[in-house]
Amino acid sequence: MAFILLLAALLLALFLHLLTKKHRRSTYTLPPGDLGIPVVGQTFSLLNSLRSNTDDQWFRTRINKYGPVSKMSVLGSPTVLLAGPAANRFIFTNNSLALTQTRALRALLGRSILTLNGDELKQVRSAVQEYLRPEMVRRYVGKMDEEVRRQIKLNWVGRDTVTVFPMARRLTLGVICSIVFGQEAAAMVEAHADDFQMLGDAILSFPVNIPFTRFGKGMKASAKIRKSITRIAQKREGSLLEEGRAASSTDFFTYMLILGSQGAHSLTLEDIVDNAMGIIIGAHGTTSALITFMIRHLANEPDVLDKITQEQDEIAYNKGTEDVLTWEDVSRMKYTWKAAMETLRTVPPVFGSFRTATKDIEYQGYHIPKGWKVFAAQSITHLDSKFFNEPTKFDPSRFEKRSSIPPYSFLPFGGGSRMCPGTEFSRVETLVVMHYLVTQFRWRLCFKDETYTKDPKPTPVFGLPVELELRRPPATADA
Ligand code: HEM
Repeated sequence: MAFILLLAALLLALFLHLLTKKHRRSTYTLPPGDLGIPVVGQTFSLLNSLRSNTDDQWFRTRINKYGPVSKMSVLGSPTVLLAGPAANRFIFTNNSLALTQTRALRALLGRSILTLNGDELKQVRSAVQEYLRPEMVRRYVGKMDEEVRRQIKLNWVGRDTVTVFPMARRLTLGVICSIVFGQEAAAMVEAHADDFQMLGDAILSFPVNIPFTRFGKGMKASAKIRKSITRIAQKREGSLLEEGRAASSTDFFTYMLILGSQGAHSLTLEDIVDNAMGIIIGAHGTTSALITFMIRHLANEPDVLDKITQEQDEIAYNKGTEDVLTWEDVSRMKYTWKAAMETLRTVPPVFGSFRTATKDIEYQGYHIPKGWKVFAAQSITHLDSKFFNEPTKFDPSRFEKRSSIPPYSFLPFGGGSRMCPGTEFSRVETLVVMHYLVTQFRWRLCFKDETYTKDPKPTPVFGLPVELELRRPPATADA
């Protein structure tokens, strides 16, 4: 009898719970829009628009139809598309929205800054930020300069044509590896350039580990890279134990191990390896896209190229031919950086940001249920004439007065607590590369109207081949 009463009480409690839950749901105002065909939703339509570089029209059509807050379904999840600076602020600063990463990325990169959330992320993020902070980047300028010159000599000098995109990828991989690995960098790039490419390509793939699929190849590449990096990390740990602290060291492993010994974090060697992979993946595909599209813009914008050339020639004039660029030189490249920002505005390397609601939340009168995804695309504000006059025009001068650009409308590096920690690194790297290209070469696009796809990073369809001409080097102080 007691058992029957208990069961009845439990059933009543369950019934009441479901009833109130249903009632709570029925008072929800979900955003307008449709979720499309179950599971598939708008996934293929959005991916196709990215591939054909018509994603901006795709977003604007939805915004015109449903307004700045609308629901759709992408990659199997109900997703709220948000548009405008206020929406960007909401996405980047709301504590109930967690960064969403694909299952593929989590499998490929393990427990890295790119994949963790919440408390687990805090110490990883602060350690990585410490390594990439502007004062540290100052110490990397000489090494960046050395690697950029080496690669330009190897892959650009003496050629009539260069296919920019793969060269830029190789260059940025070389630069980040020269900082992260120190003396082992060249061997790592030599052994694993293709593996890094496969790893990067697998990030948005379907995560079923079958050989010869994108994901299968990515997993194999990830295991190979991890094995080599672990060997380097163990070697650094051994030398630290033998020789004590090398306070001036800038390689990632020594730096992280020293930080750990000072109690700044409790990351294991395995965590440090995963984070080295995370930084390399975060760094090189993005910066190479910026460099590639800057080269493309400059081929079509002679006036901008002339101004950059003047700025760079002045810097070159005060140096001997063998002198490396310094932090002070880079600080003087102000106009060149404006042109780089204009490139980031018109062709952002990261097309948007996904977050997941960790609890039911509300935005502008609409409910976003727990577990739903939230998405904002950078192009929505970057290419909106409300924030940027004549938005399709390439005009670096719009960055002369940064205060005229409304907050949260220009976000190539994201914002809030997950903002890109490599902003300064990529700025300095891009400026060093542009210095040597602009002072030494002139280029013409082989296909003037070459289009690009987003895969999801912007990728020129033919890789951006250019005809190259050696420019008379500018006079220098020691000439
Ligand atoms: C032009 C170059 C770059 C662009 C446009 C870029 C853009 C971004 C964006 C938009 C995010 C945030 C994504 C989100 O919130 O959804 C991000 C995160 C990140 N970036 Fe960059 N990035 C660049 C270069 C770099 C470099 C050079 C490094 C490392 C040296 C780097 C390392 C990272 C890392 C580790 C994260 C993850 C941070 C976190 O989740 O807490 N990035 N980047």
